[in-house]
Amino acid sequence: MSKEYMVFTRKHRPQTFDDIMGQDQVSLTLKRAIEQGRIMQAYLFSGPRGVGKTTTARVFAKALNCEKGPAVNPCNSCSICREITQGNSMDVMEIDGASNRGIDRIRELREQVAFAPSASRYKVYIIDEVHMLTTEAFNALLKTLEEPPKHVIFIFATTDPQNIPQTILSRCQHFRFKRASLNTITLNLRMIAEKEGISAEEEALYIIARAADGALRDGQRIFDQAITYSKGETLTAGIVGEMLGEIETEKLLQLADFIVEKNLAGAIRIMETIFEGGYDLKNFVREFAEIFRNILIIKTLEDRQGADVSDEVFEKAKAISKKTSRENFLYILEKAVGLEQRISRSYIPDIVVETFIVNAILFLGGEIKTGMSETGKKEP
Ligand SMILES: Nc1ncnc2c1ncn2[C@@H]1O[C@H](COP(=O)(O)OP(=O)(O)O)[C@@H](O)[C@H]1O
Ligand SMILES: [Mg+2]
Ligand SMILES: [Zn+2]
Repeated sequence: MSKEYMVFTRKHRPQTFDDIMGQDQVSLTLKRAIEQGRIMQAYLFSGPRGVGKTTTARVFAKALNCEKGPAVNPCNSCSICREITQGNSMDVMEIDGASNRGIDRIRELREQVAFAPSASRYKVYIIDEVHMLTTEAFNALLKTLEEPPKHVIFIFATTDPQNIPQTILSRCQHFRFKRASLNTITLNLRMIAEKEGISAEEEALYIIARAADGALRDGQRIFDQAITYSKGETLTAGIVGEMLGEIETEKLLQLADFIVEKNLAGAIRIMETIFEGGYDLKNFVREFAEIFRNILIIKTLEDRQGADVSDEVFEKAKAISKKTSRENFLYILEKAVGLEQRISRSYIPDIVVETFIVNAILFLGGEIKTGMSETGKKEP
């Protein structure tokens, strides 16, 4: 057997309804529909990222198309099942709505839809991030949804159901996927640990589950990272905490760099990952002030005295410290210190933080970069 490395999110993607965790309502209804042969032509799967929408769409497609089916439990061994698992079935198409927003792709799709499936019962179109389609694309899609050929099934997935036109919604059966609970994520990680023969403290899994913020995918990713980080040692709460801390420091340094570079787009992007990551904002602001304080000290004293940081952080902070004046650092630091209180009093803490960043960048003046340069380095 080859021991090729495969990331957990691929290796442990559920292949049956029973393996999909925390979405029992959805699974149960879909299973019943298969048993009773009541298959609709359009489904909408909505819910947060990384909770099983695409996974469920694929299992459903398999259940419908399996050579031994339609069956609630697809066999997962016939060529049709295997092709769907590998993502190269001719009859189960996955389209990313975010990168195929336009009318052309949907027109193309409308032409394809008319042809019978090549090897299976149904042609299944899974359109991810469907809310990203343009109005014209939605209109074209609607025409197909009004009179779909019998062999076609659409499964739309979205994190943003409120941005889908009512005309489309009214033609879909809507399934709402839930955020995964801490308990579900911890359980999922424990299962993977057992399958992989990895020893991990319960507390370590719990910390990962918290950082995953409701997404099983993120839980598995962080778990994967933590195992690499721990270099084969038992995964302890200490190791996980340390790793997550390093990721956070890296983010904070990047944000500080984007601010002094006046790269507004970059700074906002980092903030989005922080909002999405479900960090405690007050904690984040406190640590941000801490980093800024260290940068200011490094700038002033030009050595490590008084700056309580690792060598690696010191080098990065020093580079950032050279990019603007002491007065500017002081100004931003003072604003950052007041921020924590303003956040606690606000109903919209994320906007308070974002305003602070825009403010800081405007204060630094000069030319503001709104382009999406990845590194925040000065463009020539
Ligand atoms: N409900 C779930 N049960 C078990 N694993 C899950 C679940 N949801 C997501 N995962 C894991 O996360 C990965 C990505 O899930 P995916 O179905 O693509 O999420 P979504 O489409 O909702 O963003 C899967 O391959 C799987 O490893
Ligand atoms: Mg998906
Ligand atoms: Zn099969």
